[in-house]
Parts: sequence; C-alpha cells; structure tokens
Amino acid sequence: MLEEIVEDIKSLIDPVIWITDGRFTSSELKLFDDARQLYELQLAKLEFLRFGEDLKEFVRRTAYFEEILGKKSWHYFISGVKGKGQIGHTNQYMTHWFYPYKGKFHGQMIKALINFVEAKKGDLILDPYLGSGTTLIESSLLGINGYGVEINPALAIVSQIKLDSLKINYEEISTEVDFSKVYKIFEYFSSLKIPKNSIKPTIEDCLTAKELLEMLWDRFFPSSFLHDLPFEWRNFLLLIYLHALSDYTYLSGTKKGKSLQQFFFDNFKEYMETIRGCWNVINRLGIELGDYEILIGSALDLKLKDESVKGIVTSPPYSIALDYIKNDEHLLNYLGVDIGELRNHMIGLKGRGKDRLVLYERDLRRSIEEMFRVLEPNGWAIIVLGDISINGSRTNFNRKIIEWSKDIGFEDAWQLERAILGGFAKLRFEYLIFLQK
Ligand SMILES: C[S@@+](CC[C@H](N)C(=O)[O-])C[C@H]1O[C@@H](n2cnc3c(N)ncnc32)[C@H](O)[C@@H]1O
Repeated sequence: MLEEIVEDIKSLIDPVIWITDGRFTSSELKLFDDARQLYELQLAKLEFLRFGEDLKEFVRRTAYFEEILGKKSWHYFISGVKGKGQIGHTNQYMTHWFYPYKGKFHGQMIKALINFVEAKKGDLILDPYLGSGTTLIESSLLGINGYGVEINPALAIVSQIKLDSLKINYEEISTEVDFSKVYKIFEYFSSLKIPKNSIKPTIEDCLTAKELLEMLWDRFFPSSFLHDLPFEWRNFLLLIYLHALSDYTYLSGTKKGKSLQQFFFDNFKEYMETIRGCWNVINRLGIELGDYEILIGSALDLKLKDESVKGIVTSPPYSIALDYIKNDEHLLNYLGVDIGELRNHMIGLKGRGKDRLVLYERDLRRSIEEMFRVLEPNGWAIIVLGDISINGSRTNFNRKIIEWSKDIGFEDAWQLERAILGGFAKLRFEYLIFLQK
C-alpha cells in the first residue's frame, strides 16, 4: 500500500514530465540529483525549450541534465573537474575556482542562461560586469565568443588568466614546471614590488586585460627565468600567487591559517591538478573553445557598436551592500592599482550616505540603457541581481529594472526568483531578470 502511494507520488511530481511537457520521464532524462530548487527546474525547462528538439545538441549544451537517453551530458564531465569549495555540479569546476573572489555566480546557472539566449558558435555574448569571468568561461566552454567589461583591472586580469588557463597543455607544463621550481617561483613573486597607483582603470583608452598583463611583465616584473616560459604559463603562476595572497589574508589567525609560502605550495599542486583535468576533459570531449576579449572599462559606456551582441548575461553589484574594493584590497595593492581612481568609477561605491543609493540607481539604469543599445533586435539581456535589505527594508531594484525596461524600449520583461539558502540575512532573494529587445 505504502509502496504504491510512494510510486504514485513519484510519478505525480516527476519534474522531467513537467520540464519536457510530457515527452520524457526521469527514467529517460536524468536531472543532476542536486538540481531540485524551483529556479533550477525552471531553467532546465527553458533550456529544454531551446534544445529539446535536438537531443544530440542537448547532450553538449545542457546544464541541468546528467544523462539523456543513457548518454552522459558534457556538463557531467566538465563539472567532474572538481575545484575547491565546489557544491555538486553547480560551481567552482574547471578553472572557476581559481582565485577566491567573493561575488562569483554559479557556472551551471550561467550555462543555462546562455542556452536560453540561444547563442550558437560564432555568436557574441556580453558580460559588462565581468567580475571573475564566470560568463566568459561558460561561453568559451560552449564554443561561443565572449566579450567582458570590468572596471577593476585586477579582476580583469584574474578573468583573463582563468580563461587562458583552459588552454594550457598539461603535459608540457608539468614537464617544465615541476615542484622543484616552486620555491624559486614563490620567491620571485613575493619579492616583487609594483609601485603604488601604477595601474588605473582605463575608461577612455580601452586597454584589454591581455595588454595590461603584457605591460605588467614588460614594465614591472624584473627579468628572470620566468620570462623564458610562455606568457600563459607565467600568468597562471602569478594567479597561484594571487590566490595564495588572498588565502593568507583571509585565513591567517584561523584554524586553516598557514604561511604564505605554504599556501602557494599547496595551491600550486591543486592548480596543476585542475589543469590536468581541464586538458583531459577538453580533449576527450573535443571542445573547441570560444574566443574572448576582456576590456578594462565601464559598463556605463560600452565600446561596442549598436546591435552588435547576441545576448547579455550579467550581474551588476548588488546595490551599495558589498565593498568590492575592501574585499580585494590585498590584490589591488599587490598589483599597484590606483584604488581612489577605481572607487570613482565603480557603481555602488560612488558618493556618501544617502547619495550613494541615488547614484547607484542612476548608474544601474544608465548601464541597462547601454545594454539595450548594443543588443541585437529580439536579443535577451539577463540580469542577475540580489535584493539587498538596507536598514531592514528591501531595495527592490529588480522591480525597478522591470519598470524602467518599458521606457528604455524592451518589449518583454519578467523574472525568476532564487531563494538564497544560508545565513546572509541581508540577501534573501536573487532575481534573474529577463529583458527582451
Ligand atoms: C556582482 S560582481 C560580478 C561577478 C561576476 N558575475 C562573477 O561571476 O565573478 C559585479 C562586478 O561589477 C564590477 N563593476 C562595478 N562598477 C563597474 C562599472 N562601472 N563598469 C564595469 N564593471 C563594474 C565590479 O568590480 C564587480 O566585479
């Protein structure tokens, strides 16, 4: 009797029947076992809507299905290259985990959103608030081209290195850069002194992250054995150091505390493991990575032509709540970034007191107008925004965006809600806001 009831319930609430409009059941298409939140099922339905007619393509593209008619999806293998702090198949896989940036969003969700905007090989996806590069990593893994804009030069560099590292040939690097060299590499980076304020956010002169890295190696990194290594390898080693610096800053004095050198050594081993995993999975699946370019600049003034991007997947700062500069001060200081100048250009950090929220609102709206301008007709801009509470009241910027979108000219606007589980009381909900031009 009980067994029957359980079977009954199972078939009644089989989410795959709902996702596929009755075409398949969970025994034919298997969701990842941790994809059970409502927004995840909604996104799975949206991606099925786009690729469900071509199951071969669905195997390559899906973010939420583990198996399609007995065949493992690509996401199963990709999320199998595990990184530190990974939760199930959602985040931190491949090079996503490199550098512990606090505002990262989940790669799996971004993959589903890129699927929804129907970007294909040769199309261009934009993220005007690139942060640590999640959107571009996902678009590149799908073979789609990406363009990222980030005002913080240090983060633009981090993103560039995370993307370039997907291409490092593990066999070559592991024979040349073995553990015996690690102490020398650590000493090199730890004795480096880049003069204060040498790097500024470049609003007008449009430097790419790659150009900035080249400039750093030319001007500020004294010549050494490292200069004989390929550019991407040197940057990869630099990122290990930057990651160690962050771990050291945040974890000293805690149970997990270690010396900077020890963090560097341990991270070196784990980064190399990830490079091995990425190299294997990219070759095994035959992934042709999409191209990417990262510009150091402002989302308020995009250096892109009108109607030049297929889709936008992005996440602006969540109002005035998080001080992105304080969070990454160690990184900014090490790279000699002009912090005062950066603060003047970051949305959410301009002004004081009540002015701050007013300026944030003005800038957020301006950047959505820019998104509208560069988007193709009928294209989608998807904005992920947390609804932060300030002094106990919710800011509701998600609703404001939907209101503005009509005036700006978008044809359609709706949102999905994502409950934030866990202890951050100021942030209970995140919204995925879908705007169609
Ligand atoms: C919520 S974070 C994005 C995180 C990103 N989605 C990720 O996965 O790493 C917002 C980013 O916007 C950047 N930002 C702030 N003001 C900006 C501006 N005017 N133009 C471009 N980027 C800006 C911040 O430096 C921060 O990295």
